[in-house]
Amino acid sequence: MPAPSRDPDPRTPYQLPMPAEAADDIVVAPVVPEDDRVWVPQADNVWFRPLCLSASQGYWVNLLKVTRAGIISRHRHPNPVHGYVIKGRWHYLEHDWVAEEGGYVYEPPGETHTLVVPEGTAEMITLFQVNGLMLYVDPYGNALSYEDVFTKIDMCRKHYAECGLGTDFVDRFIR
Ligand SMILES: [Fe+2]
Repeated sequence: MPAPSRDPDPRTPYQLPMPAEAADDIVVAPVVPEDDRVWVPQADNVWFRPLCLSASQGYWVNLLKVTRAGIISRHRHPNPVHGYVIKGRWHYLEHDWVAEEGGYVYEPPGETHTLVVPEGTAEMITLFQVNGLMLYVDPYGNALSYEDVFTKIDMCRKHYAECGLGTDFVDRFIR
């Protein structure tokens, strides 16, 4: 049980300053942007939309949008991933489950899998929180390329400069 409050009014805001070292909040609404320029192109018919780019802790939270069926990428995760399917459906070649609209997926450290958007899915959008690294590999685990929060930030900065939102548009997502 918490100690009894000295102020019985539950509507009283917290009265002390936030820690001096605490970062600013990020508030994004709507998560699925109204301005299509916010989507950063990643590959043919594949985009991501940054929500939180944690340079200080080495993770990122973003939406992934795919508007074609087929193989999207094969990759290994050294760290956990959390996903929430906002629209459409997808699966991995290595598993028999399907991530459905409204569903949640946990990808444990050590996973290597191949993302597939099935035929008949015109668009899928999934929120992913990715920690550390995405390591793109061949079917035998040989590294081909990688992404981390810093390559994500670079892609955002380049795209937002080119599309007119400005190089500093990405700064609102970086902590
Ligand atoms: Fe993955």
